[in-house]
Amino acid sequence: MYTAKKSFLFIFSLLLFREMHAQKKLGTETRQQKEKRMAWWAHDRFGMFIHWGLYAQPARHEWVKRWERMSNEQYQPYFDMFNPDMFDPKTWAKQAKAAGMKYAVLTTKHHEGFCLFDSKYTDYKATNTKAKRDLVKEYVDAFRAEGIKIGFYYSLIDWHHPDFTVDGMHPLQPKSEADSDYAKINKGRDWAKYKAYLHNQIRELLTNYGKIDILWLDFSYPNPNGHGKGKNDWGSVELLKMIRQLQPGIIVDNRLDLDEYADGADFATPEQVKPSELQSQYGGLPFETCQTFSGSWGYFRDENSWKSNRELLTLLITAVSKSGNLILNVGPTARGYFDYRAVRALDSLAMWMKYNNQAIYGCTQAPAEFKAPENTLLTYNPVTKKLYLHLMQYNQAALTLPGYAGKIKYAQFLHDNSEIKWQAAGDNGSNLVIKLPQQPNVEIPVIELTLQP
Ligand code: GLC
Repeated sequence: MYTAKKSFLFIFSLLLFREMHAQKKLGTETRQQKEKRMAWWAHDRFGMFIHWGLYAQPARHEWVKRWERMSNEQYQPYFDMFNPDMFDPKTWAKQAKAAGMKYAVLTTKHHEGFCLFDSKYTDYKATNTKAKRDLVKEYVDAFRAEGIKIGFYYSLIDWHHPDFTVDGMHPLQPKSEADSDYAKINKGRDWAKYKAYLHNQIRELLTNYGKIDILWLDFSYPNPNGHGKGKNDWGSVELLKMIRQLQPGIIVDNRLDLDEYADGADFATPEQVKPSELQSQYGGLPFETCQTFSGSWGYFRDENSWKSNRELLTLLITAVSKSGNLILNVGPTARGYFDYRAVRALDSLAMWMKYNNQAIYGCTQAPAEFKAPENTLLTYNPVTKKLYLHLMQYNQAALTLPGYAGKIKYAQFLHDNSEIKWQAAGDNGSNLVIKLPQQPNVEIPVIELTLQP
């Protein structure tokens, strides 16, 4: 009797402890249901981000309005002049598909507040420019027709809306950080109206364009200088509930400031981090690293820091080798086409992906028993049981794979299925030694290792 009471107390306090330390949840989805919902995303691995808005015209960063502290009046010429006469999303979709990108995310509205879609809640939209039409609709139709999954980026921040209160990141930020100066400049701005606007527009986006696969809301900054915005400002909890209700299958990023909830986000968004800094886990969330070709997200005419094909491939392969995704950004020109540098980058990705995509799609981190030798990266397809050895630097000296012997049935180059010879050597013959042939004409050659069943 006594021990029963004791163990009851023990179990009770354990449960209490777990309850107190469990993360809160907003919904009731199980782990299996979540895995199923996210299966396409975890399989596809590679997406295209598209940052397009009025900022393509100044062509010196999508934050130009903030960086140059422009007022709405000073920014107005970009609205008046906007005329994307060469906008042809069917071509964009073909370019994305050829590069091996399986999903896309377009900025329906960026921080500047301009809407590429026909929202009934604003006049500050593409339909009222020389474009005269809903550019989001055309994007959706064109990408869907190519079998590419559809994503929307929507900026929580809005530097145009009259009720969006000026904060520490706003173009009209006061010179002093005194609360009284903020109060003065924010007089007459009604946050409740902006919050309603934000919810209404997200409702429109998730109602008027059919199935939306992924949503990128950007971003929260709860406390910079005491003048920031976060979950309470956006109404993030209600927002996420509405999103899930309107589009039950949708996958949502982690920028709503809901980290305290176990289901407050579906994926982490490490931005512009170096491959060596990518981690496999971000607080229990899988990741999608977002990266630019050259530094800025919007079209930046004079930027000269374009990544090489090798650097882009390294980002993609590294992401997958850590069970993550890569979303790579294009900033189309103000006339609506991808400029020659973007096209060149996409073409060279297409060239590699055409022959090596099996080492990306459906792949993930390799089982721990396989260690990647220096200057290589491993990806692994758990369904086909193939291990992919990416030769990040080609060195014709022998390559030793520690402890691999006995585990491998066959080795070949992935791009042409040409056999790669190997032999067991080293400690008790447990290492597998490959003598590499001449370097093939592939930016990063991949050896496909078929595992013993
Ligand atoms: C940032 C920037 C932005 C870009 C985004 C993409 O938060 O504000 O310009 O859209 O990241 O991740």
